[in-house]
Amino acid sequence: MKIVLVNGSIRKGATYKALQLIEKTLKELGDYEFEYIHMVDTELNYCKSCFQCFIKDESKCFQYDKSYTFKNQLLQADGIIFSSPVYAMNISGAMKNFIDSITYLFHRPEFQTKKGMAVSTTMGSSAKSSAEYLKSVLKAFGVNDCSTLAVTQFGQSIDTSDKLQKQIIKAATHYHKMLNKPAKSPSLKDVLWFNMWKASTQITKEKDYEHWKSLGWYNSSYYFDIKINPIKKLIGFITYKFLRMVMPSR
Ligand SMILES: Cc1cc2nc3c(=O)[nH]c(=O)nc-3n(C[C@H](O)[C@H](O)[C@H](O)COP(=O)(O)O)c2cc1C
Repeated sequence: MKIVLVNGSIRKGATYKALQLIEKTLKELGDYEFEYIHMVDTELNYCKSCFQCFIKDESKCFQYDKSYTFKNQLLQADGIIFSSPVYAMNISGAMKNFIDSITYLFHRPEFQTKKGMAVSTTMGSSAKSSAEYLKSVLKAFGVNDCSTLAVTQFGQSIDTSDKLQKQIIKAATHYHKMLNKPAKSPSLKDVLWFNMWKASTQITKEKDYEHWKSLGWYNSSYYFDIKINPIKKLIGFITYKFLRMVMPSR
């Protein structure tokens, strides 16, 4: 299996150390190959808010050479790990910038077969909320399931603290199990998210509509064929019908 690890720090420091320990643990547990995307190496500019990726096509982005490469690296993975140090109680600007460069994937998700992991490292605060944010982005990009790891160092070092190492090894072991499980049945939140986009892409621009249509999602209850709890399915259906009723037509 291939794992792509995105290091959201602009140095190869604590976050990278956590990723390396995850890599080491996974290597001991199974047959994995790894590829890193380090923010420090990307030279990515800020999104210019031109909206072309949403309205027309992602290829219209002024830095499509970079965002295209990222998406293709992620597309080739079975597992995607997003990570970031905590800066001012949230993820780093570099990691946010990386996410911004491929945000059109919220509209046109492509990672349905993949399993995600969201990792944050911090000196003291906001580790959980930052990891949860990264998880919500991965879920919005379509990953089937996603775990979190929030590492709070409190002045200790990942290199020397047994407690931190154990925490990371435990999370990596959990992720290994997740990677080797069949696709997870969607939660109610997943079903609602799908139906919200199913309704709204019918009033947005051509590109989103074509993506959803070509994948047959307008005629299905979820991104792919999987058993869904009938109550969740019903709530999703009612939500979709309601949104279609209140939203304007194309
Ligand atoms: C600009 C900046 C802002 C930070 N803000 C916070 C913060 O709000 N809360 C916190 O606990 N740690 C904060 N830290 C500490 C980092 O989150 C922590 O050292 C992290 O593990 C660094 O990861 P790295 O070595 O991969 O860059 C901050 C560090 C920097 C450089």
